[in-house]
Amino acid sequence: MTDKYTQFVSRAPGRDIARKLGLPQPVVLRRHKPGQPLITEPVLVQGTGTGADELAATLLAWDLDVRRHAVPKEKLGAIILVLDELARPEDLARPVLTAATSLRDLAPNARVITVSRAASDSADPAAAAARQGVDGLVRSLAKELRAGATANGILLAGGAGTTSPSTLGALRFFLSGRSAFVDGQFLTVSSAEGQLPADAEKPLAGKVAVVTGAARGIGAAIARTLRRDGATVVVVDIPAAGDHLAAVANEVHGTALQLDITREDAGERIIEHAVERHGRLDIVIHNAGITRDKLLANMDQSRWDSVIAVNIAAQLRINEALLASEHFRNSPRIVSVASTSGIAGNRGQTNYAASKGGVMGMVRATAPLLGVHGGSINAVAPGFIETEMTAKIPFATREIARRLNSLQQGGKPGDVAEAIVFLASDAAGGVSGEVLRVCGQNLVGA
Ligand code: NAI
Repeated sequence: MTDKYTQFVSRAPGRDIARKLGLPQPVVLRRHKPGQPLITEPVLVQGTGTGADELAATLLAWDLDVRRHAVPKEKLGAIILVLDELARPEDLARPVLTAATSLRDLAPNARVITVSRAASDSADPAAAAARQGVDGLVRSLAKELRAGATANGILLAGGAGTTSPSTLGALRFFLSGRSAFVDGQFLTVSSAEGQLPADAEKPLAGKVAVVTGAARGIGAAIARTLRRDGATVVVVDIPAAGDHLAAVANEVHGTALQLDITREDAGERIIEHAVERHGRLDIVIHNAGITRDKLLANMDQSRWDSVIAVNIAAQLRINEALLASEHFRNSPRIVSVASTSGIAGNRGQTNYAASKGGVMGMVRATAPLLGVHGGSINAVAPGFIETEMTAKIPFATREIARRLNSLQQGGKPGDVAEAIVFLASDAAGGVSGEVLRVCGQNLVGA
């Protein structure tokens, strides 16, 4: 459900009142629905190198309405700016300023996507400067775009090129309504691994996925999205949430495992359940998480310990069991839920932010261990998401928190689920050790 203010200003007379008073003007975002085309309006691919040519040819093969040059006054669904050959900062001007002339022609909910090389991959100071410049450019442009349009970037590293499977996978994600609440972010594709699905509507067909903390909120949304995309789903939550968990399991035609993830043998129990009931285990989503907020000056040991135990220590222990298991060796995928609190910090959340920062550190260090089996591990860091948790925040604080991002609204549990399910798919197989923020580009903090 879109919040009432967003509904009010999305049409007359609310829209005109908000404009006159200079109030936020969030729009109802384009979100993915099964059967929906990737994008309906023309896509402008800009950039002069062979990488741009190859990418344009691929998009044509997807039956998109591709332009290599802007047609005056034509509405555009997306601008893809291929900047993979930058050698020095001066190289930015021409392609960027050419793209700038088309920005006023972007349709509502349009996409601007850059494809460039990772600065960390270059030892040449001028090339690194040009590449890092793209970072600042995209994040600033995302703050300038309006009407639900977003700007995001794909960074190529290692052996990845403009048409590597996961570059195309990331491009499809960013173009689609699946990335509605992802804005001002980058995804690094660090290898030529990965595979686009045979059936774009069922990218997880044949996979068995486990999601923890799935009795409600974001976890339940993840379970539904996994199911929608073809996976067989095991939902995990504490015994006290058993009734809700059973309802979610029924809804997604999956199975329920009542389990406190802080138990010593949680990893073994998860593997055993998946293999006994469904014959295999391909994907684990670490979503279960708790908050026990207090200023650090008032923090007690039990608040500190319980948050660390659920939010990060349990994930580490479960991952150890997964890495040791012969049942988790066939392109295994792990996705963890972090939080923007772990990046930017949040008053009263030192314990929570330490645990979520921990998730991001864990993901980076675990990536090579899963890579041995052709697998990947990534994290998604949600910002303000409309859930039971955030509904409890007092009205004025909640209203400020949900508007302080470039899209001027809170995200939905489904927005987090879309990013997670994309990272759990083989289309993202060349992305590992990454953190993707789903926050509408929070304006406060990092
Ligand atoms: P929620 O409180 O609605 O759901 C969390 C679920 O985890 C509950 O069903 C709970 O029973 C389960 N859980 C807690 N401890 C468990 C344990 N020891 N073993 C098994 N299950 C356990 O929370 P929400 O909002 O859906 O959040 C899900 C994840 O997203 C959490 O990791 C949270 O930190 C993260 N997050 C949420 C944001 C938001 O705005 N709602 C923002 C950033 C991150």
